[in-house]
Amino acid sequence: MINPKLPYIWYGGDYNPEQWSKDIWQEDIRLFKLANINIATVNVFSWSLLQPSEDEYDFSLLDEIIEKLYENGIYICLATSTASQPHWMSVKYPEVLPVDINGNKRSHGGRVNFCPNSKIYRYFSGKLVEKLAERYANHPAIVVWHIANEYGTYCYCETCEKEFREWLKKKYGTLEELNKRWYTTFWGQTIYDWNEITVPTLRNVIFHHWITGKLSTVAQGMVLDYYRFMNESILECYLNEYRIIKKYNPNIPVTTNLMGTFKPLNYFEWAKHMDVVSWDSYPFYEDDYINVAFRHALMRGLKQGEPFMLMEQTPSQTNWHPYCYIKRPKVMRLLSYQALAQGADTVMFFQLRQSRGGPEKFHGAVISHAGHENTRVFREVKELGEELKKLGDKILGSKVNSQTAVLFDWENWWALENSQGPSAAINYPQGVESYYRALFENQLGVDIIGIEDNFEKYKLIVAPLLYMIKPGLEEKIKNYVEKGGIFITTTLSGIVDENDLVYLGGYPGPLREILGIWVEEFDALPPEVKNEIVIQTDYKPYFSRESYECNLVFDVIHMEKDTVRAIGLYKKDYYKGSPVVTVNKYRNGFAYYIGTFPSKEFLKEFIKYISQTHKIEPLFKDVPYGIEITQRVKDGKVFTFLLNHSEEIKTINIGGKKKDLLTGREYEGLIDIYPREVLILED
Ligand code: GLA
Ligand code: ZN
Repeated sequence: MINPKLPYIWYGGDYNPEQWSKDIWQEDIRLFKLANINIATVNVFSWSLLQPSEDEYDFSLLDEIIEKLYENGIYICLATSTASQPHWMSVKYPEVLPVDINGNKRSHGGRVNFCPNSKIYRYFSGKLVEKLAERYANHPAIVVWHIANEYGTYCYCETCEKEFREWLKKKYGTLEELNKRWYTTFWGQTIYDWNEITVPTLRNVIFHHWITGKLSTVAQGMVLDYYRFMNESILECYLNEYRIIKKYNPNIPVTTNLMGTFKPLNYFEWAKHMDVVSWDSYPFYEDDYINVAFRHALMRGLKQGEPFMLMEQTPSQTNWHPYCYIKRPKVMRLLSYQALAQGADTVMFFQLRQSRGGPEKFHGAVISHAGHENTRVFREVKELGEELKKLGDKILGSKVNSQTAVLFDWENWWALENSQGPSAAINYPQGVESYYRALFENQLGVDIIGIEDNFEKYKLIVAPLLYMIKPGLEEKIKNYVEKGGIFITTTLSGIVDENDLVYLGGYPGPLREILGIWVEEFDALPPEVKNEIVIQTDYKPYFSRESYECNLVFDVIHMEKDTVRAIGLYKKDYYKGSPVVTVNKYRNGFAYYIGTFPSKEFLKEFIKYISQTHKIEPLFKDVPYGIEITQRVKDGKVFTFLLNHSEEIKTINIGGKKKDLLTGREYEGLIDIYPREVLILED
């Protein structure tokens, strides 16, 4: 349980009473109670109110807010307010303001608009947090701390430049080593003095690609290190506050709200320092339920499957999507249960009362501009609140049960997408997601794990686009397969080391031995140009079609060992008839290679083939598209979440008798799940 002080599914969200007069607060409390809200996240953007000038602090308003909520049975997720510094600070100490990637010094405004290496920012944020912790860390209302808000702004200022040099000195020791790792002999970039090192911006090594318009770079090694350095610098801001809070009360968990597949921050590194992972889920109009599940699974994976917090979701619409669609009736409830099904222990909104002004005035909220409870959104929030309250602590602390995993690695993402070639169409998270989807649709139970996680507990691990093989990873994969693991990897894997330097001797470098193949070259064609994977005779019984489309990248593969088999061959082009999908028996396990970007149909059937061949039993059989099934387990008890994301009734077989926690009804065998409905079955 995140905090046993509040042994319910946490239900509430961001609340900004400082935007309102006190008579409104009174009305808010009435409505919160009506909606069964038990937690409010407060103080997210109040620094300028808490500290009107350099030596003046005023906590009276916050005191009142916390007391008022607590008196009324509402617990507090206490934010530290450090995502936007007060105006006076930016004016008096301009060094707190960042320089952007264009090389332009920013002036005050907006949020997360500070230099993470500014000593002044660290000093003042630390001082504020010290005062907050001193005052509230032992307050009975506080159940969790929320540091800053959605970190992520990279800075390119002089302070950062100096710190970057120090960071590099520590990392590489000598310039000789740095020159080697950054491959500076290319285009004559040799560095002779540490002070020659600059930060990578649009004024030097970063540029908008003249054809695609995407940001690109000509300094792969340097940019990769700058991402690492920025990630650590920003993390240091978080840690600065974390350490202070812990001094005052180590028992209150601390978090900061993450953003799913957010490229600038290596969230696996962050999660090591977070007591509980929390994140903000804002599905796009184009997303289907599997995209959303993928991001939940990634966030769950950051802390090896520990329950996470859904810190924010909109009850209805966002204001910042290009087209701000409204969640249709029952969809908010459905997506809330999806978060729980994927391992969350909280359902929280942005925000509780809709702002009157500012950029987010059209962002959905529990209490809308209408200001009363007679809205569809409020009714839905209230009904969900009642249901969640009845669930009590039943599912809290339970963990999602998965037998397969997909590997995700931020540094790999950075390096792969910073690479010029072979294809501008490569999108790492999308590539990983396509494999997650295939496992998900085969009902195998999927986790997303990092390269440092335990591999042994999974029957199958898929590592799509594992371009970068860092020290130790090769052995880890070999060990896993040697002992009987099933490993699948793809095109553009095993190509570079941790500095984006190619492994010489043939692709896929360190993975060549276990895959038993050599990729001589890879062709890349525009997305609309397709080839086909022709299924080989021995494998035909497992596939519904003779061939499947593939595109983007086409590896030219040689099978190097007699333990290797080709599952599929190319249908056309000069590599027609050569292998595109292979398998190698390596010791007690199997290593599969897919040398292209195959269609969804292929991946789904391929994973089905793998699960049949290696006896990885699906949790459920014959599950139609639109149905999401996950299991959470606690003390040997299994909770099966069944969600119908579609617009039609779907029938599935649930086997033996089970009871639905939401309605108390018993079910058995074939059951109908109504559109946008949810069941939580207990054996
Ligand atoms: C983010 C922020 C919130 C708010 C919402 C709007 O998640 O954390 O402060 O801006 O987006 O969707
Ligand atoms: Zn800076």
